[in-house]
Amino acid sequence: MKTPRVTARAHTNIALVKYWGKRDEDLIIPMNGSLSLTLDEFYTETTVQFDSKQQTDHLILDGVTQPTTRVTPFLDIIRNQAGITAGAVVTSTNHVPTAAGLASSASAYAALAAAASKAAGLTLNRQDLSRLARRGSGSATRSVFGGFVEWQAGTNDATSYAVPIDEHPTWPIRMVTVVVDRAEKKIGSRAGMQTVVKTSPFYQEWVKKAQADLAAIKPAIAAHDIQQTGAIAESNAMAMHALNLTATPHFTYFTADSLTAMHCVEELRAKGIPCYYTMDAGPNVKVLCEEQHVAAILTALQAHFDKNDLLVAHPGPGVQIIRED
Ligand code: DP6
Repeated sequence: MKTPRVTARAHTNIALVKYWGKRDEDLIIPMNGSLSLTLDEFYTETTVQFDSKQQTDHLILDGVTQPTTRVTPFLDIIRNQAGITAGAVVTSTNHVPTAAGLASSASAYAALAAAASKAAGLTLNRQDLSRLARRGSGSATRSVFGGFVEWQAGTNDATSYAVPIDEHPTWPIRMVTVVVDRAEKKIGSRAGMQTVVKTSPFYQEWVKKAQADLAAIKPAIAAHDIQQTGAIAESNAMAMHALNLTATPHFTYFTADSLTAMHCVEELRAKGIPCYYTMDAGPNVKVLCEEQHVAAILTALQAHFDKNDLLVAHPGPGVQIIRED
């Protein structure tokens, strides 16, 4: 028995209010709600076919066979729901303009959830697809939707899922990525957030702040208020990164180049250009701004960075099935 071969495309997202810590490690229930912008520039395309002749799962990522340690338990959730036992062949390609270390588990698990559930014969609505993607990687919960997306933390599997806030923003919002380092991150987000939850004396303060930031950023986005939206996003990101310095052992994703990019953004702001930075579990800096300021921001950043390392993204779409045969 072979199921249809289904291909899905999902875009990555960058959180403006971060997810940083789980209350349930197995179900991936977060400690706090988060909010992100899905981006058009970076996406993953994943093809899945289940085949009863396959004893085990096979994963080919960007042409290279990979271990299925994380993918097989995820596919097991789908197999259980669909009542099948067949192994799967999973072929996945990351589309990133340069080899920039920007491949994300968000786009990867959102695409895998959509392709594998469809191939297994499940018909999931987007809320259930978001719940499923969550089991692969927390940030994937949000990549099911386009534009501005909120992940409602919930307290269990049924109540933790993403909802679209503004799927097709008319706001000319942009995200400039400054690629400062192409290397794999040393401390993955999974391990980093675990250490922080367990050891930072400030963790509960973070949860309170994130909840307050989430409540405050939604009206700012609705009002297309770049100053408010950007200030909240920047402050939230810095609180997350400050938390890492208070963990035992302490760690940071900042590099000298990250600080250079952030100072450059601060200088632009002092000159009256509204632009704001955020960072995830790696040294690359992302700059939130409006279209009319992109050119000035790129010019300023080019004093420090190669122009090939500056990538401009628009809001991107939610996950889509792009082929079925
Ligand atoms: C800093 O979704 O990669 O990007 O759920 O363990 O797979 P797991 O973690 P992941 O963490 C993302 C952390 C972040 C913030 C965010 O995207 O909200």
